[in-house]
Amino acid sequence: MTRLSVNINKIALIRNARGSNFPDLLKVAQDCESFGAEGITVHPRPDERHVKFSDIPLLKQVVQTEFNIEGYPSEEFIKMVCDNAPKQVTLVPDPPGALTSSEGWDTLKYRQELKDISTEFKKHNIRVSIFVDPSLGMVEGAKETGTDRIELYTGDYAHNYDINKEEAIAPFVSAAKLANKLDLGINAGHDLNLDNLHFFYLQIPKLLEVSIGHALVVDSLYYGLKNTIQIYKRLLTNY
Ligand code: PXP
Repeated sequence: MTRLSVNINKIALIRNARGSNFPDLLKVAQDCESFGAEGITVHPRPDERHVKFSDIPLLKQVVQTEFNIEGYPSEEFIKMVCDNAPKQVTLVPDPPGALTSSEGWDTLKYRQELKDISTEFKKHNIRVSIFVDPSLGMVEGAKETGTDRIELYTGDYAHNYDINKEEAIAPFVSAAKLANKLDLGINAGHDLNLDNLHFFYLQIPKLLEVSIGHALVVDSLYYGLKNTIQIYKRLLTNY
């Protein structure tokens, strides 16, 4: 089974635009769950333009499914994650000010740092996932950090899907096979959408979770949040 974790950053972005609590992020998170989401993902960035650090303890109280906090492991981020103990933390190498995450970790260069940080999270019983490009070397490097899972950065897949989907998926299949062999769980995310998700799901062996935000929120404008979540979930089956 592949879980759908809904990234609610874009909902927070809309809320922040008016400086009030509308839409109510907690209610949207709960509604996503009641509509079928199997996880809620947030990615607090240092400038807090999306989810704010102060949202985290409140979300932790209401989220009943899997709570996943993503982000760059600054001291502030590490402390906030340990204090709130989500089910999963996803480490992303996006420096402060980045528009979005656009690449995975160099797990060889940062192996020791990632190992130390993973150890700290595991002491708090938090599952660790490390965002990586679909490169065999980076997957091997991730294994050495002691992480539980990798999250495959799917931006390049999404970009190349329309040109040649077999070529686009090939490095992801190789990376996933290696991850399975190394007993690393596999998550994936970035730019997954209604067009490219099902093929990704069919091709990747033992895909545990996808986190999807931008396209899902945009699709909700047309189809409504409930329908959209249910359509995405259906794409994660062999229907
Ligand atoms: N995974 C990671 C690590 C991310 O940084 C993001 C974007 O915040 C996503 C998944 C979701 O990407 P998208 O919003 O394109 O679905």
